Amino acid sequence: MDKLCFFITVAVLSLNCLAYNLPTDQEALVAFKTRIISDPNNILVKNWSTNTSICNWIGVSCSRKWQRVTALDFSNFGFSGTIAPHLGNLTFLSYLNINSNNFTGIIPLELSHLRRLKEINMGSNNFIGVVPSWLGAIPELQHILLDDNSFSGSIPKSLLHNNSKLQTLQLAYNFLNGNIPQEICNLSALEYLSLRYNMFTGSIPFGIFNMSSLRELGLTNIACQVGSQTIFVMVSRN
Ligand SMILES: *[C@@H]1O[C@H](CO)[C@@H](O)[C@H](O)[C@H]1NC(C)=O
Ligand SMILES: *[C@@H]1O[C@H](CO)[C@@H](O)[C@H](O)[C@H]1NC(C)=O
Ligand SMILES: *[C@@H]1O[C@H](CO)[C@@H](O)[C@H](O)[C@H]1NC(C)=O
Ligand SMILES: *[C@@H]1O[C@H](CO)[C@@H](O)[C@H](O)[C@H]1NC(C)=O
Ligand SMILES: *[C@@H]1O[C@H](CO)[C@@H](O)[C@H](O)[C@H]1NC(C)=O
Ligand SMILES: *[C@@H]1O[C@H](CO)[C@@H](O)[C@H](O)[C@H]1NC(C)=O
Ligand SMILES: *[C@@H]1O[C@H](CO)[C@@H](O)[C@H](O)[C@H]1NC(C)=O
Repeated sequence: MDKLCFFITVAVLSLNCLAYNLPTDQEALVAFKTRIISDPNNILVKNWSTNTSICNWIGVSCSRKWQRVTALDFSNFGFSGTIAPHLGNLTFLSYLNINSNNFTGIIPLELSHLRRLKEINMGSNNFIGVVPSWLGAIPELQHILLDDNSFSGSIPKSLLHNNSKLQTLQLAYNFLNGNIPQEICNLSALEYLSLRYNMFTGSIPFGIFNMSSLRELGLTNIACQVGSQTIFVMVSRN
């Protein structure tokens, strides 16, 4: 009887350990916290206490059952700093919103481990580097908002290839260059597309105006090179 109880206990404990991974999530958010160098609202000191569960931190949501971090909403918190790669350990995360802060640096490759992500909103920060091509490999990703940063390089084709889930692609106000890829017209679920205020060259794929799912299209102030001339496109469809 004792033996049986022991085995049942071990079995239950190991089962719990599989999904109950709050210590890892805690480590990830503590690492995230240490890379924040400016916090004008004193959120880190007043609310993000290491004494309390991270699930009680303002902006953090956890699943009820397993107490895993499922959503982060730190929009408009006034944070400055870089993104700790440890954030990629939050494997239950489906919603990440750090819009309107002052984060700098690149988006760490480790975030490609977030296989459950449905929305990534890093708009209105100071991120540099290229738009991550691995975003195209996250199976459930529906909303990508990276507008108003300092991203450069071209739109990665892997982002557009075979992507039937993507509903929002917000890349306005960056320094993106190269062509607007034809493949963009194949995003069959796309509703919101904004590419305004970048440095694209080449022609606009006219298939864009044919996309049936599209509800809002922002293409104003795109400079396009046509032959030897640069034309500025002023189009808006709402
Ligand atoms: C942090 O803020 C949340 C939401 O406002 C609140 O529920 C929680 O009690 C606060 N925690 C601390 C330690 O102040
Ligand atoms: C956290 O715990 C330490 C030591 O137990 C204590 O001194 C401190 O006041 C606690 N901080 C908060 C915000 O509860
Ligand atoms: C979390 O991620 C970091 C950096 O990506 C890694 O070094 C660390 O070992 C991970 N921690 C855990 C507990 O998995
Ligand atoms: C943003 O952060 C940079 C350094 O990381 C700093 O120089 C700049 O003043 C910050 N801007 C604001 C609005 O906080
Ligand atoms: C498109 O996606 C489907 C299912 O997700 C997959 O089977 C197929 O190989 C993909 N095609 C390409 C060209 O990536
Ligand atoms: C768009 O998809 C169609 C059908 O799936 C395919 O034939 C075509 O080559 C694709 N076009 C681009 C530019 O990817
Ligand atoms: C737009 O759609 C119409 C009807 O489906 C088609 O005839 C036309 O070729 C398409 N135009 C472009 C530029 O894809």
